[in-house]
Amino acid sequence: MTRTTWRGLRLALLIGASASVLTAAPALADTAKKPAAAPAHPWLNAKLNPDARADLALKAMTNDEKFTVIFGYFGSDKKPKYTRHKDSHDASAGYVAGVPRLGIPGQWQTDAGVGVATQGSHQDLRARTALPSGLATAATWNPELAFKGGAMIGKEARDSGFNVQLAGGVNLMREPRNGRNFEYGGEDPWLAGTMVAAQIKGIQSNHIISTIKHYALNGQETGRFVVSSNIDDAAARTSDLLAFQFAIEQSDPHSVMCAYNRVNGDWACENDWLLNTVLKKDWGYKGYVMSDWGADHSSAKAANAGLDQESAGEAFDKEPFFGAPLKADLAAGRVSQARIDDMVRRVLRAMFASGLVDHPVVNPAPVDLPAATLAAHAKITQADAEEGVVLLKNDGDLLPLAKTAKTIAVIGAHSDVGVLSGGGSSQVYPVGGRAVKGLEPATWPGPVIYYPSSPLKALQARYPNAKVVYDDGADPARAAKLAADSDLAVVFADQWTTESVDVVDLNLPRNQDATIDAVASANKKTVVVLITGGPVVMPWLDKVGAVVEAWFPGTAGGEAIARVLTGEVDATGRLPVSFPKSVADLPRPKLDGVGKAEGELFDVDYNLEGAAVGYKWYDLKKIEPLFPFGHGLSYTKFAYSGLTATATGDKVTVSFDVKNVGARAGKDVPQVYVAPKAGGWEAPKRLAGFKKVSLAPGATRRVTLTVDPRLLAVWDGKAHGWSIAAGQYDIALGSSSRALSSTVQVTLAARSLPVSPAGK
Ligand code: BGC
Repeated sequence: MTRTTWRGLRLALLIGASASVLTAAPALADTAKKPAAAPAHPWLNAKLNPDARADLALKAMTNDEKFTVIFGYFGSDKKPKYTRHKDSHDASAGYVAGVPRLGIPGQWQTDAGVGVATQGSHQDLRARTALPSGLATAATWNPELAFKGGAMIGKEARDSGFNVQLAGGVNLMREPRNGRNFEYGGEDPWLAGTMVAAQIKGIQSNHIISTIKHYALNGQETGRFVVSSNIDDAAARTSDLLAFQFAIEQSDPHSVMCAYNRVNGDWACENDWLLNTVLKKDWGYKGYVMSDWGADHSSAKAANAGLDQESAGEAFDKEPFFGAPLKADLAAGRVSQARIDDMVRRVLRAMFASGLVDHPVVNPAPVDLPAATLAAHAKITQADAEEGVVLLKNDGDLLPLAKTAKTIAVIGAHSDVGVLSGGGSSQVYPVGGRAVKGLEPATWPGPVIYYPSSPLKALQARYPNAKVVYDDGADPARAAKLAADSDLAVVFADQWTTESVDVVDLNLPRNQDATIDAVASANKKTVVVLITGGPVVMPWLDKVGAVVEAWFPGTAGGEAIARVLTGEVDATGRLPVSFPKSVADLPRPKLDGVGKAEGELFDVDYNLEGAAVGYKWYDLKKIEPLFPFGHGLSYTKFAYSGLTATATGDKVTVSFDVKNVGARAGKDVPQVYVAPKAGGWEAPKRLAGFKKVSLAPGATRRVTLTVDPRLLAVWDGKAHGWSIAAGQYDIALGSSSRALSSTVQVTLAARSLPVSPAGK
């Protein structure tokens, strides 16, 4: 379809919309003036519910039209073999054609979770706002911020002509070396599910579709196209699947993207248990399942297992399975017409339910967004980045940086010009271009991009009368000399992580550990700022005064970091993942699949830790992490009191007071953990609730939380539901998973719960 036709379609939709208004209010009709208006298609009547609209549209479709909406094209050229679909947006993730005859628009798909991405490194096209990484947003423990960030990137997606955003990464961090941890929500089902749900809700508030991905157990990038994540039903449902279940219930994402890997031997995108049993039957999911790019391996098998839409079929899959092969399957009876109709109905329903049909995106989309919009969006990403910064260590209150400092050494990680971002399909190209040119890898999974938001300049602006001097940190001795001659040293250290590759170990690359060590040896007042995709080890930890983890902080990251370092805002982030002391403490000290020949199938045994992911593993094995899940210091102090917990049936309500007992305003994240006295869970305790509270000095707030009953239960395979054991449970309140300050008990009666609130 040409762009002109799409303009025509928009006009037709507008005429259709006004026609339905006319039907509803005949007194206002001015039929004489609209003799040419075609009768509206009944499914374009926004007053009908999405199910009814999908049914009506489906009935009007020819079989070819049905196959149109379940087949996706790649939105970028893949030289030499593939040229993008002419109606896709240049350098985008994908496109699914519409049915103009019926007023069904196309689906323009864009990555991803931190903003509107651009595929391919051949050009710096489509400069947009990037949020901090998903893990940084999870570190805010602030669902309201996650919603605002989602709403903002969803608006940029819409303003860029996209109506499907491939966001919502919620894979639990089972493997700290996973190159994509930065795209996800951490290691705990409740935290990750809640935070990612908030972002999805924000995105979908723009009348567009968001995915949730990568379903499921896509725990590492090494061998991602061949690995089988093997895990028992109960362990999966209490860990990775629970994160998806929480997020889906809270946000109703209109699409689920199935993953590259296999699960218990079957590809995730043709896995009957994952798609049909768990997602659609047990959870009652009404949206559609789209495959990841290259994750579909069959036609009838995948369709019958629950895959509804093939993505980028011609460019990535072995065959365009949901094209001619699936048509042949239908003709031969290998897939039923009823199943094809279900696939189409699900896609159509999502298009109606999201509002993208009633609120068509404008195409062709502008390449540049208005400066005022970008300025407003910069504030949103900055707020997110600020609250995501985690103050890990602060000896002698080295931070906030002393206002009296006359000389400050700023060292390393290109902090003179910008901040690093994560690589792969989620890469957003920044307004203002790349801060550092000529980095490798320049092509997939690169380019490596530093956003032009300079921490050095942001610090210099706050110290107009001091000497704030930069050294690139490449020569540890030279950096140490500068530090020795300065009142304070701030060392930036970073680690690029990316889709498609895991990191080999948890040490900082490029000899940065040596630079930090040398600087800290020269000046005790050394602050380390980490800009990383996930956890790193810190061999120099005892020597430095303070450490902050700023993750990949997004396009306003430099400003956000400076505001935290100088104390303009409190340090309010908390770790959404544990930082281990060493890879030797992980369930798998050696990453599975390393050294395998390309394409060789292999397994990862997730039954090793089962549902004891992250802090649960360290608790179970009594291993002390470097920094525990939930940890993060503040510039003020908080005290907890008055903890009470009551149980009514399976509903546990927890209340407590949080008081700011320090001298300045700040934000805290009190956390509630639950533990059965008799044991019997995957690990001693689980996070059951949290609340970010903002308090003036001296102020107190009473917080009340209710615990999701599944966090008090175990999965009972025989009963196909959740089961709460009778007995006493500890309800503990603390500032991290390893800093619990008070505990009370509740007694629960034995209880069975259905698999999901829908009771299926
Ligand atoms: C990634 C997905 C992404 C898709 C489209 C794949 O490589 O795994 O997360 O949405 O590409 O760009």
